[in-house]
Amino acid sequence: MKKYYITTPLYYVNGAPHIGHAYTQVVCDTITRFYRQRARHIFFMTGTDEHGIKIEKASIEAGFDEGKEKDFVDTIIPKFTSLWKRLNIEYDHFIRTTEDYHKKEVQNILQKIYDQGDIYPEVYKGFYCTPCEMFWSDTQAVDGKCPDCGRKVDALNEKNYFFKMSKYKKELVDKIEKDEIQVEPNIRKNEVLGFLNGNELQDLCISRPKTRLKWGIELPFDKDFVSYVWFDALTNYVSGLKHKKGDSFDDHWDNVMHVIGKDIIRHHAIYWTIMLMAIGQKPPQKIFAHGWWMVGKEKMSKSKGNVLDPIYLLDVKKYPVDAIRYFLLSQVEFGYDGSFSEELFIEKYNSDLANDLGNLLNRSLNMVEKYFERIVPSTDIGSDCLNKEAVDLYAELMYSYEHVCMKVDSFLQIDGNKIDFKTALGMLWDPVRRANKFIEVSAPWTCAKENNTKALALIMGTLVQVLGKTAVLLYPFMPETAQKMWEQLGMTNKVCDVNPEEFGALVIPVGTKVQKGEPLFPRLDKIG
Ligand code: MSP
Repeated sequence: MKKYYITTPLYYVNGAPHIGHAYTQVVCDTITRFYRQRARHIFFMTGTDEHGIKIEKASIEAGFDEGKEKDFVDTIIPKFTSLWKRLNIEYDHFIRTTEDYHKKEVQNILQKIYDQGDIYPEVYKGFYCTPCEMFWSDTQAVDGKCPDCGRKVDALNEKNYFFKMSKYKKELVDKIEKDEIQVEPNIRKNEVLGFLNGNELQDLCISRPKTRLKWGIELPFDKDFVSYVWFDALTNYVSGLKHKKGDSFDDHWDNVMHVIGKDIIRHHAIYWTIMLMAIGQKPPQKIFAHGWWMVGKEKMSKSKGNVLDPIYLLDVKKYPVDAIRYFLLSQVEFGYDGSFSEELFIEKYNSDLANDLGNLLNRSLNMVEKYFERIVPSTDIGSDCLNKEAVDLYAELMYSYEHVCMKVDSFLQIDGNKIDFKTALGMLWDPVRRANKFIEVSAPWTCAKENNTKALALIMGTLVQVLGKTAVLLYPFMPETAQKMWEQLGMTNKVCDVNPEEFGALVIPVGTKVQKGEPLFPRLDKIG
């Protein structure tokens, strides 16, 4: 059976994580849970990027002495790990670039590339953008500003080591064009190819002199230098997997997907792929760059001071974790920018979660309680007991799930054609909305008055099965909600253990006793 590997970027530990970081985690967690529920192997790794000038500066600003950066980063890590726990992110390994096994791997790779003559020393004259950790030539840094972030760059004139990336350019272009390395979505593939074809590929400066930066991994061939933080951090994808999955490294590596934000596409699609080519390792199968969460017209970012803190949403506003996961996954097509505001969040919550899903569960279970003493009735009854409009909806609901399952599946596969959580969730919400309509149209209250028990049983049975199937398919996206629904439907096993590939017509056995609980998503008041 194929083994998969999914990664997030390693987050800089110069501050607490925000919604943008939480997004990548939720995306990777959803795919991981999707695979696990279908009994497939997947290894999910995330972690933190702890070296470099940015972190050194943050450490000093936080009052730590020079040389005590590790103590500083140790204070930040729990901000990440505790938030991932709150968001129910089930990763297999959390890698820190300050760990010994990682440092050793970085040094091994540097030494290998140096020994084969692909790293050379040279005096560098140009500019440097510290927030982006990027070098820029004088033609690139127009008006003394970073072409990426627009902030002021510093002039530099110093010896450094350079990696001959240019040597691998042709091979890289070829691999991206042929989709041997899939860069997604397509706009990012075009962006990378446009950049490669339109520019001379400069060799990459992979060192920093210790006179300027001590907080890094020492170059194995020159003790006066440390590694460029990106060379160090990118190596994690290999060092962490090797460390945890030694024997099955190759199997996982064959089916890897790096999930990143669009601002770090070049680092991944160019630097990282070329680093791998240089050491004779297969480049990654897929690099998926998602868009940004924006606040108004601006990217949400620590440096802009406009971040939305997930802890505020969870602990102060007490929004359910799955409502946040749902918003992130359903608000934008995967790969594109989206706006996050509390107003938008509340609007979506009330319409999709309170009105559609929560309401369906609540009213269905109320009626099963009222009409059948909580016992799930059989649907093995001809549908001619229903009115005409209800018969059509009934047929759609009962027979649409094979299609829904297939569609949801197709949007979550690492090696599929298109990954898209928004469309997948839309597919899942379709039967939920239809089921609410089915209640209106079939009017069980009238059936009860008319003593039409056959119709009542058919309606209740159908609703329970729709809710059961929804819970199972919803699990990867909203694990807590799915489990709560499952329990309210009277099931005692774990919804994560129910494999939708083995669905029969009924997921909730006839005769099960439902256990109505608290409403899952009580309506929220509008802000202001
Ligand atoms: N440390 C590097 C990554 C090294 S990976 C080997 C880094 N760290 S970061 O903390 O600055 O950013 C981490 C990720 O967060 C990036 O993928 C970035 O795109 C993402 N985001 C930061 N702000 C974001 C939004 N406003 N919206 C969505 N994601 C964004 O870069």
